Amino acid sequence: MKQRLEELKKEIALHNHRYYALDDPLISDAQYDALFKELLEIEAQHPEWVSDDSPSQRVGSVPVSGFETVQHRVPMLSLGNAFSEEELSAFDKRVTDALVKEGVWTAGQPLSYNAEYKFDGLAVSLRYEQGRLVRAVTRGDGYEGEDITSNIRTIEAIPLRLLDNDEYLPEVLEVRGEVLMNRADFERLNEAQVQRGEKPFANPRNAAAGSLRQLDPRITAQRPLRFFVYGWGEIDRLPYDTQSEMLDWLLRLGLPVNAHRQVLTGVQALQDYYQETAAQRATLPFEIDGLVYKVNELELQAVLGYVSRAPRYAVAHKFPAQEATTELLSIEVQVGRTGAITPVARLAPVEVGGVTVTNATLHNEDEIRRKDVRVGDTVVVRRAGDVIPEVVAPIMDLRPEATELFVFPTHCPVCGSAIERPEDEAIARCTGGLVCAAQRKQSIEHAASRKALDIEGLGTKLIEQLVDRDRVKSLADLFTLTETELATYPRMGPKSAHNVVTAIQGAKTPPLARFIYALGIRHVGETTARHLAEHFQDLDAVLDADQEALLTVPDVGPTVAASIAHFFAETHNREIIAQLRHHGVQPQAPEGLSDAMATDSIFAGKTVVLTGALTELTRSQAKERLEALGARVTGSVSSQTDFLVAGERAGSKLTQAQKLGVEILDEAALLAQLDARE
Ligand code: IVH
Repeated sequence: MKQRLEELKKEIALHNHRYYALDDPLISDAQYDALFKELLEIEAQHPEWVSDDSPSQRVGSVPVSGFETVQHRVPMLSLGNAFSEEELSAFDKRVTDALVKEGVWTAGQPLSYNAEYKFDGLAVSLRYEQGRLVRAVTRGDGYEGEDITSNIRTIEAIPLRLLDNDEYLPEVLEVRGEVLMNRADFERLNEAQVQRGEKPFANPRNAAAGSLRQLDPRITAQRPLRFFVYGWGEIDRLPYDTQSEMLDWLLRLGLPVNAHRQVLTGVQALQDYYQETAAQRATLPFEIDGLVYKVNELELQAVLGYVSRAPRYAVAHKFPAQEATTELLSIEVQVGRTGAITPVARLAPVEVGGVTVTNATLHNEDEIRRKDVRVGDTVVVRRAGDVIPEVVAPIMDLRPEATELFVFPTHCPVCGSAIERPEDEAIARCTGGLVCAAQRKQSIEHAASRKALDIEGLGTKLIEQLVDRDRVKSLADLFTLTETELATYPRMGPKSAHNVVTAIQGAKTPPLARFIYALGIRHVGETTARHLAEHFQDLDAVLDADQEALLTVPDVGPTVAASIAHFFAETHNREIIAQLRHHGVQPQAPEGLSDAMATDSIFAGKTVVLTGALTELTRSQAKERLEALGARVTGSVSSQTDFLVAGERAGSKLTQAQKLGVEILDEAALLAQLDARE
């Protein structure tokens, strides 16, 4: 039995490695759980066999009162930066010149570098003795850090013991790497923080840092932290001659080394790889702030050595900063299509990630209060991917005297109607409806957008003029526009007027789903609009549906049903639809799959969550096919979930679903259901 226990420990470690480091699991979650259970059972019978490197011992139960300071045997250094191609070339030249001067390199011969991600997390050093994790220490000031072993042990991506294979295994091996949190996990954690009435974290890096600083490892254990190794500290002997081979070896020992790395020769290759990586950046599950290039030959690294606190052989090629600080000049509010009032910060222009930012969202009234942002403050502004820049926080130390809290307006700045905010909602709204020019402009812009009526050439500027001149009061008025009249508008010639009118006329027979979407009913997005169209098949049926009938449509709950019923109960909305018809607008009934067919699927009207790795289908294919059968596919498991589809090595969602008694299907069962329907 003792032997079996040892086998189990090894097997579980191997499967963790396949999952976290290689992203290529060998067994299903159930199989993994069975191994784990077997291990727990043996340990329960023989508590004297429980060892520190058992996967059952990740979470210690005693909170500590503080962290001990530990000296690093090999200091943890920082890196020099390069922010441009010029700075990168200068680095390469510095390195080459130094090597030539030392007589170990020939002038003009391009150097090879190992390019790696620059992970945006926290550096830690892990010490393995005889293959077992004995200590984990933060970077601290580079010379001494804090002992966070019990917290680090809770991170499943970190092996408690190295894999036992034919690899060279030093007595002492210190590896260095970065602890981080995936973006999606960070978002989820923040939602939970807010729900518990706790402060959300500013970014994944802070969330990871906060999690590692917990004195109670049981809390750290609940935080979904990841880890990637990029280097080493103390080690008996270096078994390989290059950075890249060293990393390959560490990976074979079971350590999580990220696969995105490459040996590249010459500056141009580095620059190309940088561009390629930058393009992928937004789609990565975690944040990186650049690439790190390290001279690949370890001997050359040794020759180059260190200057002040950074190696001369490596450089961080940084992406343009995604955060910057600037002055908050004023706060204005914008009125959205449904009247939603969004406070917007007007900023002294500042470059963030290569783009000049002058406006940033403040989200809503509560956010302004929570962050205590005031006009005159110096604020941190962030831009992430394609999303609208946001104000992260004021820098309190720089706050001028006599600032005042922003007072949220009580009346719409555009139409003067009252602003109301329902008690349980975060968003305040202008009550002016289509009286409000701001709402009118945006509802027309929405109706003309690509996913709605797709009227090309009818842009923001033209819509603004049409509304400001009161020429277009509603969507229906668009269909009365003539070429001659449009040609008189600024920046419009006969040609563009012709194109716009042709596009408008071309929008007279939209698919019913797009027409419904174009109406801009609150809570009715593209998917709901499609479900309504498929269910009712014709516009009059939608118009006449009462709440009860609406509730039978997949994806439509009480809030959405009430919103739709309310919209069509308004006389003036009915009038606009009548006018549209009068002008010849005729929505087309959907073809193909009808709702009648969809409703006899087990998924019709049900909420489904996908988790784990599917092998036959991609996630989005599965989602699409489920939706075609009337399912609503969501991201998190709750009491509202009807089915959980669990692929290979599903994790916390599966546990959650089991706890809640949600029906669980494996991929085969999903495919059987899908195929039965199609
Ligand atoms: S090597 C002696 N490689 O960046 C070389 N560092 O600015 C020292 N970092 O404290 C570091 N990804 O936390 C290295 N692939 C990578 C890295 C990396 C992220 C962090 C690390 C370090 C900081 C230096």
